[in-house]
Amino acid sequence: MSQPRAVLAGSGIAVPPLVVDNHMLSRIVDTNDQWIRERSGIATRYFVEPGTSSADLGAQAGRAALEDAGIEASEVDYIVCATMTPDHYFPGSGTLVQHQLGAGPVPTLDLRQQCAGFAYGMQTVDALIRSGIARTVLLVGADVHTALMPFNERTWETLYDADAGPLEEETLAWNSQFRHLVVLFGDGAGAMVFRAESDHDGRGILGSKLYGDGRHKDILFVPGGGSAQRPFVSQEMIAEAGTVPVMDGRKVFKLAVTRMPAVTREVLDVNGFGIDDLDLLVMHQANLRINEAAQKALGLPKEKVHNNIQKYGNTTSATLPLCFHEARQLGKAEPGSLVAFTALGAGLHWGSVLMRV
Ligand code: ACO
Repeated sequence: MSQPRAVLAGSGIAVPPLVVDNHMLSRIVDTNDQWIRERSGIATRYFVEPGTSSADLGAQAGRAALEDAGIEASEVDYIVCATMTPDHYFPGSGTLVQHQLGAGPVPTLDLRQQCAGFAYGMQTVDALIRSGIARTVLLVGADVHTALMPFNERTWETLYDADAGPLEEETLAWNSQFRHLVVLFGDGAGAMVFRAESDHDGRGILGSKLYGDGRHKDILFVPGGGSAQRPFVSQEMIAEAGTVPVMDGRKVFKLAVTRMPAVTREVLDVNGFGIDDLDLLVMHQANLRINEAAQKALGLPKEKVHNNIQKYGNTTSATLPLCFHEARQLGKAEPGSLVAFTALGAGLHWGSVLMRV
């Protein structure tokens, strides 16, 4: 018997009910289908109904993953939640998900590593299981971006009902300040359940390589709504859209196309594998053009990469499990497959995790 490894027992997702295509978005911001498809590859994304939170979606995905694994919520002994859009300033989502699932009073952790959150979560699960601290861990990635958009009620009505529009010029101009964000992001959640297995037959999380570098904080962050200012939120801040993410898309793009391939090579190398050993690469879904460039840089054939940003947009901490779950359903990640996960996001945080399914 060897040291226990974190072996995947099941996966699940939660997709909100409201599908939004690019034409619908062009009713509420100055954009068009061609611009969005050409620059990002995105055709649709899913939005929650108002009142559905990231913890709600996370619990839904968690339930689906437990069902897939055939594991009762009462058997889970640790919950790790990754989100950049928590329900509240505090507490984090961990206990909210735990309570909705009806799990026992188990320890929960919140990770705030944005798009790299799920990769950080996989490393955390690996450490919890290898150390013997936990035996059955639920890892959740969930984000609700629509709550970040400072749009009025009429905007949301016009999005879903063409007859409610057109929007007044002033509203369209205000909304369009955020067009580079709203077209990219979608709401969603994904989850994986891991079990400690000593008799693992080479399966499980094999290793990870993660990085963080605060020098790049300003290229992607939310200026307001935190302890850097007193009060943490004010009328002026809201009027100036200070609670909306600031993103220098070009800089993020350049970092992603170089660092995701580099760290994927590194994690393979450290664990004694080469790029040809990979059966599947699951990348963060921020922009299809980023992923096409990364695939090319790695010299991987198309069949060994799965992308679904076209359908879901960027769901931040949910992209890795959402993409993996879909790949698994399509038969691209059968038991025994070697899968690398890689992501880069705000912070800056990035990394890669290697797992044998
Ligand atoms: N529709 C139409 N025009 C638009 C839109 C839109 N939705 N958004 C921006 N534009 C305009 C700009 O205003 C600009 O106009 P100008 O030339 O008149 O000034 C023009 O299009 C080009 O804008 P750029 O920002 O230079 O376009 P770019 O080719 O860089 O594409 C994009 C923008 C899609 C955002 C790209 O840079 C990108 O995807 N970057 C990576 C984003 C990313 O990975 N984010 C990570 C988030 S993860 C996390 O941790 C939260």
